Amino acid sequence: MRYEVDFLVVGSGIAGLSFALKVAPYGKVCILTKGDAAEGSTRYAQGGIAAVMYDSDSFDKHIHDTLVAGDGICDREVVEMTIREAPDRIRELVQYGVNFDREGGGDRFDLHREGGHSEFRILHHKDNTGEEIERGLLEAARRHPNIDIKERQFAIDIITQHHLGQRVTKHTPGIECYGVYALDCDTNRIDTYLAKVTLLATGGMGNVYSTTTTPVISTGDGVAMVHRARGVLSDLEFMQFHPTSLYNPAEKPAFLITEAMRGAGAVLKDRNGKEFMQKYDERLSLAPRDIVARAIDNEMKLSGKDYLYLDARGIGKKHLIEGFPTIYAKCLSIGIDITRDMIPIRPAAHYQCGGIKVDRNGESSIKHLYAAGECSCTGLHGGNRLASNSLLEAVVYAHNAAMSAIETVGDIPFKSEVPDWNAEGMVLNEEMVLITQTKHELQEIMWNYVGIVRSDLRLQRAFDRLNLIFRETEDLYNRSVLTEPLSELRNLIACSYLIIKMARARRENVGLHYSLDLIEKKV
Ligand code: FAD
Ligand code: SIN
Repeated sequence: MRYEVDFLVVGSGIAGLSFALKVAPYGKVCILTKGDAAEGSTRYAQGGIAAVMYDSDSFDKHIHDTLVAGDGICDREVVEMTIREAPDRIRELVQYGVNFDREGGGDRFDLHREGGHSEFRILHHKDNTGEEIERGLLEAARRHPNIDIKERQFAIDIITQHHLGQRVTKHTPGIECYGVYALDCDTNRIDTYLAKVTLLATGGMGNVYSTTTTPVISTGDGVAMVHRARGVLSDLEFMQFHPTSLYNPAEKPAFLITEAMRGAGAVLKDRNGKEFMQKYDERLSLAPRDIVARAIDNEMKLSGKDYLYLDARGIGKKHLIEGFPTIYAKCLSIGIDITRDMIPIRPAAHYQCGGIKVDRNGESSIKHLYAAGECSCTGLHGGNRLASNSLLEAVVYAHNAAMSAIETVGDIPFKSEVPDWNAEGMVLNEEMVLITQTKHELQEIMWNYVGIVRSDLRLQRAFDRLNLIFRETEDLYNRSVLTEPLSELRNLIACSYLIIKMARARRENVGLHYSLDLIEKKV
């Protein structure tokens, strides 16, 4: 099938839905989403969204905290723009129907605090903020007559001059996006979506690693698509590991224990019940994430244990049960009463700071192709994202991208000469087991050699092993018909390759990139 739409959005998380709602009055919008519309990292966000809403806080403080967490390599102008825009974007979320907790049921927002924040400035909805945001935005999008949400549609590749038979390299000037090819996961048909403007809002790539808080859909598809289309990517060495995921090895993805709990007074302890953060940072359990995750990693290695503890008992039973009902119920379901017991935790891959390089308008290096949310790299996060700045970045850049797209959409024609996808290939019966095994192998390689602490040798090992996996998988791809699992595996391999490549190129320890071979070179 061939479709023509003014605005094509790939992804139905906070970034995709926010953009869609803004452009919908100006043309037909089609949202493609590979699973159920509500599934994505957004719905699992716990802590909340950071913004300066009252005079007790200030933009300067939020800007300062973001720059400090980013370890000196954020784009300062982007930081200033994003943080100053935040209150307007929050008010819009409320207008779309998103509820944030208010103090004592009044007008004033109840604000939490998380690691790296000097003030209480996290708007939240109990400990399930993301679910509330996703609900509010999805309901608003479903009500809009110009928005068509198509579930179980897997975007495979963005369409460029390459698909018209031209040779496209990363040096080709003026690469253009004409839409995407997408696999209908119910019929296995590959459809052609032509669009005037395309937005990638495909989320993160946490599944590159064996332990991650991100849902199974987070396989770096948008980044891999732009890589194949020869677009510009940046900062992928900065994978953020959340310090406190619930230690429950059989469970995938790992359940998150929000940093807001540490903001409310919970502290990290070793297996003997002793605090240890004083050895690493004067901000203790509320230091920025890169520092806390490395400290936990070190303590785990020193003790030979595979988990440590978060002690939340000091917060008090009433506050724990009422303020963190999801975490309370989850822990109770596996026999841990957080009002009485310490919570076993370990770090898990959580957030990709890098991604598709975009300008202030959210536009990528490929014409008519925008990116927003976790798949993009705006410069806001630098070497390490400040907690709860991700949802904020997504709404700010969805807005900017929408404003730019609305201005240009009228002048962009559909590229009707784009051919349909060539679906040749065989159905290979052995495919599924090969894909599952290869994915596990890849995730272990990345966890063991390209994790929180790296070294030149570990990166080289990962690279060599990845090469073999890449060749085997490309062979499979060339012989078989395309399926979602195979496409995801190729994307995970591409993202792993890019992480390793950028990690090897980064010759100083900064933010989340930490190599044993570079310790002396820290400036
Ligand atoms: P997502 O919400 O991940 O949505 C991605 C969408 O893209 C999905 O709809 C998916 O189906 C679709 N998609 C992907 N690939 C394809 C494809 N090939 N074809 C079609 N569709 C595709 N950040 C904060 O700021 N505050 C928090 O409190 C917070 N808590 C978090 C807690 C957890 C457990 C996790 C995992 C993350 C948390 N984060 C938090 C990070 C934040 O939630 C995410 O960065 C953000 O929600 C990403 O939004 P998004 O719209 O970019 O992507
Ligand atoms: C959390 O609630 O700890 C996650 C916040 C974030 O990832 O920004």
